[in-house]
Amino acid sequence: MEVFEAIYKRHSYRGEFKKSPVPREDLKKIVDAGIHAPSGTNAQTTDFIIADDAELIQQIYRIVGSPVLSSARAVIVCIAEAKAVYKGMSFEVEDCSAAVENMLLAVTALGYATVWLDGVLRREEKARRIAELFAIPPGKTIRVILPLGVPVEEKKQKEKKTFDERAWFNRYGGA
Ligand SMILES: Cc1cc2nc3c(=O)[nH]c(=O)nc-3n(C[C@H](O)[C@H](O)[C@H](O)COP(=O)(O)O)c2cc1C
Repeated sequence: MEVFEAIYKRHSYRGEFKKSPVPREDLKKIVDAGIHAPSGTNAQTTDFIIADDAELIQQIYRIVGSPVLSSARAVIVCIAEAKAVYKGMSFEVEDCSAAVENMLLAVTALGYATVWLDGVLRREEKARRIAELFAIPPGKTIRVILPLGVPVEEKKQKEKKTFDERAWFNRYGGA
């Protein structure tokens, strides 16, 4: 799939997934797209765990509670590490976001669907509880999880404002 087609086709999918598995070869391709994202000073502060074990996925579902996880065939867990990499600045949130967006596009290009689960992890210590499940070392935090599979339903990206409402050449707000 051409990159612009993937950009426009990408959408947040919260529906049911088909029973067909996601081969490890595809999961590796998707995560490799994340690995190739840019990061501040190339510090590469995001790590990934790919859960494709059905019982493990159900354990994640029981912690998070989002229905999309109940039929997910795989879950990519994105782990961020806060560390100062340039003049006291850290970029782990940006690094993780860049990796996630690359993976969303790869997921779309390969015919799968997913949703960026982030806000939901910050309540009721859900991120910490998943970190416990995977024995993630101290100092590293689960920032985003991506449940994925072949979608049952066809969904579309939510409507975006127009170019003219959000972007201008040379000055804010246009001429
Ligand atoms: C930083 C961030 C956090 C998000 N957290 C959640 C979340 O916790 N749960 C969820 O269902 N969707 C989450 N989303 C997905 C957004 O709701 C979704 O991208 C937005 O509604 C636009 O829809 P679209 O992705 O189809 O364009 C998150 C997206 C981003 C970028």
